Parts: sequence; structure tokens; C-alpha cells
Amino acid sequence: MADIKIPKHLAIILDGNGRWAKRRNLPRLMGHRAGLRKLEDMVRLVKREGIRYFSVYAFSTENWNRPVMEVTGLMRLFDYYLRRKVDEVKAEGARIRFCGRKDRIPDELRERMLWAEDYTKDEKILDFILCINYGGRAEILDAVNSIIAEKPQSPITEQDLRNHFYLPDVPDPDLIIRTSGELRLSNFWLWESAYSEYYFTDIHWPDFGEAELKKALADYAGRERRYGGLKS
Ligand code: IPE
Ligand code: IPE
Ligand code: MG
Repeated sequence: MADIKIPKHLAIILDGNGRWAKRRNLPRLMGHRAGLRKLEDMVRLVKREGIRYFSVYAFSTENWNRPVMEVTGLMRLFDYYLRRKVDEVKAEGARIRFCGRKDRIPDELRERMLWAEDYTKDEKILDFILCINYGGRAEILDAVNSIIAEKPQSPITEQDLRNHFYLPDVPDPDLIIRTSGELRLSNFWLWESAYSEYYFTDIHWPDFGEAELKKALADYAGRERRYGGLKS
């Protein structure tokens, strides 16, 4: 019975591209390239598992602190990915969505992001959410500030906050996977992860594959979520 429990929203922190490259004596950007390529298979696999929302943490609000060359290279890779892969994603019935602050993103990439969202907006099998320039703290702050701008006197409710998050209709992540051995959230889905289940693996993201995904999903299926209540 347990193996029929599938997360509705699977989130992955794509970590370890740099270490993957280092281990092969390659520049870090080659690791990012391999990591992005891995996403192509993953959309297909995740869809096959019956997952409805798939979000990936690809660039955090703190990742701007990296060397300019790496940041510029990453932005170019995102642009390349969108130029070349959106049709494949769409053919899978997946709708591409972006989650994060839109400032600081190079103009050309921002336009391509808007185009990709529009181009795939009618796809209904899977929402593929790319978190780029995303930070949980920034999201909460942005929500609070827009609420204050709208209705300064009222006390803010949990529902108000949710309604002002970047993607209000997306349910909280049920399962968050982090690759490459780090045991932290690094500012991903801060509010939304209050009752998420976690799965950590030492495998670097570019090496993450079907077997590891199935392992994580089987582990999730065996867990009991209580949300502060009692065993059912
Ligand atoms: C994750 O890989 C991708 C981004 C954060 C952009 P890293 O670049 O963090 O890889 P490591 O952690 O250095 O191995
Ligand atoms: C988290 O990875 C962010 C992304 C995967 C996009 P980092 O590599 O930036 O996180 P830290 O610095 O190890 O916490
Ligand atoms: Mg890292």
C-alpha cells in the first residue's frame, strides 16, 4: 500500500554541480552544464511517477555572491536551456513556471522566461517550476510589503501571505530532496516547507538518476505525516 503514496509537489535542491566538476578536473561551469542536462531526463521521470508539481532550486538570491564569471555563465546556460529545450518540455505536457525575484536577471533571459511561461501555459500534466533568483526570505518580505501596500491597517493572516507568494496556487512541497550531502535548506521554500519531508543523498546532482529518484519516493511513501496531530 505504501508505495502508492506519491508527493503532489516534489522539490529538489540541485546541489553539487561544482563538486561533480572538480572531481573530474573540469571547470565549475561544466558541472552546471551537466546539471542542466540532467533536468531534461528528470522532467520525464517525474511526470511518469505521477507528480503534479516539480520545483527545482537552480539559483538562489545568495548565489549572486559567486564570482561574476560563474554567475554570467549560469545565466547564459539558463538562456541556452530555454532556447533549446522548451519544446521538449512542452511535448511532455509540462508547463514551465519561474519562481523568484525578477530584478537582476539579465533582460534577454527575463524575456525568454516570460516567453517560455506563455508558450507552455496551457500544458496541464505537470507544472515544472524553476526557482531562479529565489530566496525564501525575499519571498516572505516581498509578500509582506505588497500586503502592506494594499491594506495597511488589517492584521495580516496566513492566507494573505500565501496569496502574495510568487506562485500562490502551488501547494507546499511534500518532499524536498537535496543532493550532494549538505543537510540544509539554504533559503529554499522557507515558509512552505513547514511540514515537508526531507530526503538527503550524497550523490552530486549531475549523477542523480532514476534509481535515486525511486529510492527517495519509496522512502517518502513509508513516512507518516502527522502535522502536529496524532497517529491516524
Ligand atoms: C548547485 O551546485 C548549483 C547552484 C547553486 C547554482 P553548486 O554550484 O552549489 O555545487 P557545489 O555545491 O559547489 O558542489
Ligand atoms: C543552494 O545551494 C542553492 C541552489 C542549489 C540553487 P548552494 O550551494 O548555494 O548552498 P550553500 O551555499 O551550500 O548553502
Ligand atoms: Mg552548492
